Amino acid sequence: MKNSTNKKILFIICGGISAYKSLEVIRLFKKNNTEIKTILTKSAKEFVTPLSITSLSQGKVYDDLFSLENETEMDHISLSRWADAIVIVPATANTISKLATGNSEDLASTVVLASNKQIFLAPAMNVRMWEHQSTKKNLKILKDFGYKLIGPEIGDMACGEYGEGKMSEPLVIYNHIKTHLDKKLKYNKMKALVTAGPTNEYIDPVRFITNKSSGKQGYEIAKSLHKRGFDTTLISGPTNLKIPEDINLIKVETAEEMLKATQRNLPAHIAVFSAAVSDFKIKKRNDYKIKKQDNLTINFEKNIDILNYVSNHNLMRPKLVIGFAAETNDLEKNALKKLVDKNCDWIIANDVSKNDRGFNSEFNEITIHYKNLKKKEKLSYKKKSELSEEIVDRIINQIN
Ligand code: PMT
Repeated sequence: MKNSTNKKILFIICGGISAYKSLEVIRLFKKNNTEIKTILTKSAKEFVTPLSITSLSQGKVYDDLFSLENETEMDHISLSRWADAIVIVPATANTISKLATGNSEDLASTVVLASNKQIFLAPAMNVRMWEHQSTKKNLKILKDFGYKLIGPEIGDMACGEYGEGKMSEPLVIYNHIKTHLDKKLKYNKMKALVTAGPTNEYIDPVRFITNKSSGKQGYEIAKSLHKRGFDTTLISGPTNLKIPEDINLIKVETAEEMLKATQRNLPAHIAVFSAAVSDFKIKKRNDYKIKKQDNLTINFEKNIDILNYVSNHNLMRPKLVIGFAAETNDLEKNALKKLVDKNCDWIIANDVSKNDRGFNSEFNEITIHYKNLKKKEKLSYKKKSELSEEIVDRIINQIN
């Protein structure tokens, strides 16, 4: 029980009969030297008192936005940044609904909306409420946001009914969160490098060649690595995407800039090359805008292959080098060739011949080819955010 020491958790207690169990979760974390602050929603105060929580947690208890804004030490943004994780226990149907719609009418919902940390929900409600379409829909939204659910369980309920909706036991909740925090602690000394997005190769000051990459796949991988605790650097070509501010984002435009940024950020333990780097650049970029003419000949030359450079680096080759292969035909054959030619540990093949996956889509379907294991693994068609979580699960398995 030593690893979670010095971690900070913000508990949000909502109004439900199982609110009393949150005291036991707090007690377990306090015993583990976790620093704790707590927000009580208005209805939670009907079930537990600020005094009992302060005594147990030895930390501040907040109940409304107004009291927080009167504090000189912390506002709602700082409070959401302060925590390593936010734990909502119990998470009522009402709170789940508010969070799914981005509501910010009270301190709890405002802090969650402003948070860039892992959020855990321990739902507790009547079985019919749990099974209701609207709750299911709201939970799907929250899962897509990356919130983690703990429970609920099936059992006898306080209302006398039986079914799914009973809050998980405090020890289960504690172990779940602790495992997450300990993993973060384990990986935060490990550096991960991700490239993403397209590159622009200039013909003249206002024209360039590029490709359809949106950067989504790479950004999601960087987010998943960061969420698991890796010290993550994302080197990105031009995109419109946002990324949590504690990911080290380096924006570049050309392949040459991407190479230089990559070199400056070595060594790393893990490198994932999801960028669609232009294989060619213009041999001689025009200093002035090219005038209209009947015929124009543009000469190209090869760009350095960044992945190849890194995977063959004598001194600074990351332990795990992962490349992508975007193919419109002969997917497996071409991917396997890249796995060998580019000296990767894995190559992730994706079919970019269809509009519903690959370039500039929320979705993808991939096959991971593992060099040493001499095997492949297909990850079925789903959101890039979910695929990224699955890729990072496998990265963690491999480095362990
Ligand atoms: O950005 P999205 O819209 O989300 O789309 C995701 C994606 C389809 C771009 C992504 O999943 C993907 O397949 N990225 C690699 C695209 C690509 O250009 O692959 P490639 O087969 O040309 O290159 C093979 C590998 O070498 C890639 O890892 C690439 O990053 C790397 N490479 C290529 C050329 C170069 N000069 N330097 C490189 O590092």
